[in-house]
Amino acid sequence: MKTLGIETSCDETAIAIYDSKEGIIGESIYSQIDMHAEYGGVVPELASRDHCVKIVDVLLDALGDLSIKKIDQIAYTSGPGLLGTLLIGESFAQGLSIALDIPLIPINHLEGHLMSPMMEFPEIKMPFICLLVSGGHTMIVDVIGKGKYEIIGQSEDDAVGEAFDKIAKLLDLPYPGGPHLEKLALEGKSDTFDFPRPMINSDNLNMSLSGLKTSVLYTVQKISNISKEEKADIAASFQQAISDVLVTKIKKSIEITGRNEVIIAGGVAANKFLRSEFKKLEQSHNIKVYYPDLKYCGDNAAMIAFVGSMMKPIKNIDYSSKVRSRWPLNELEI
Ligand code: KG4
Ligand code: ZN
Repeated sequence: MKTLGIETSCDETAIAIYDSKEGIIGESIYSQIDMHAEYGGVVPELASRDHCVKIVDVLLDALGDLSIKKIDQIAYTSGPGLLGTLLIGESFAQGLSIALDIPLIPINHLEGHLMSPMMEFPEIKMPFICLLVSGGHTMIVDVIGKGKYEIIGQSEDDAVGEAFDKIAKLLDLPYPGGPHLEKLALEGKSDTFDFPRPMINSDNLNMSLSGLKTSVLYTVQKISNISKEEKADIAASFQQAISDVLVTKIKKSIEITGRNEVIIAGGVAANKFLRSEFKKLEQSHNIKVYYPDLKYCGDNAAMIAFVGSMMKPIKNIDYSSKVRSRWPLNELEI
């Protein structure tokens, strides 16, 4: 069974083919980051137009020598994300489904992130804890079974990736700032500034990042003619504070649920400092921590094709639009 996955929820045009015996057999991704960097963030209208321009080339690149007639079903991201960009992926998926007369499966983007490590590490068994940290989301999910996801903690304000990007902007780093901030932090000392760790000791698993962000803002504003060394110290101290909050909340979630596998997913999972901090939990808490390969941390279509391949066979294809800008994990049909 070959599932073609299409991902267009934000600024990546991505297509991949998942074969239920061989795994991923073709994939291609085009990132619009350079175009949006000029504006300091994703411009939805430009993103939609660029998906239209690139999607056919991305499909052909993903297929390579494989004939499109060999595809058995189409899975596509129908939410959450930018409405305009999601509609491009949906229309393209519908066209392929009609032309090839094969099933069409709408997929929740967040479910793609949650499930993708199982594609790379077949030894992972549900239930497990997933920390999903991206530009738009920060949540701790108890993955009980396929389609059974309990959000046990989340950010009450900014997403972690969003906080990284905002602090990076304050430090005059390019967009998206997360990877640039991580690089700058390597040159700094993480104990120079004692930034707040909001809600770290709260008795639930929720987090808040706005107080930390404001504290960094005031610190930057107080320093006149800020030097490269001071920026590096701020970056390292900020990264340490976020990491302390996330690690503490994950520790607590393991203690509460008794799960012994933790998966870190989403764009921020690419951060090597965070990875090394979470790795320490393996010994202290006798658990296993998994990270997706770097190419599967951010948005990609392999995760969409993979989740599509796990879905029950579709009998009647429904071509009405399924696109949703908001689509919480607890509103999935099982
Ligand atoms: O999952 P993703 O590609 O897109 C969505 O938001 O869905 O995540 C992008 C976010 C951005 O905020 C980016 O700055 C952040 O992930 N990010 C990082 C790193 N790489 C990407 N944040 C910290 N350290 C990194 N190495
Ligand atoms: Zn994402």
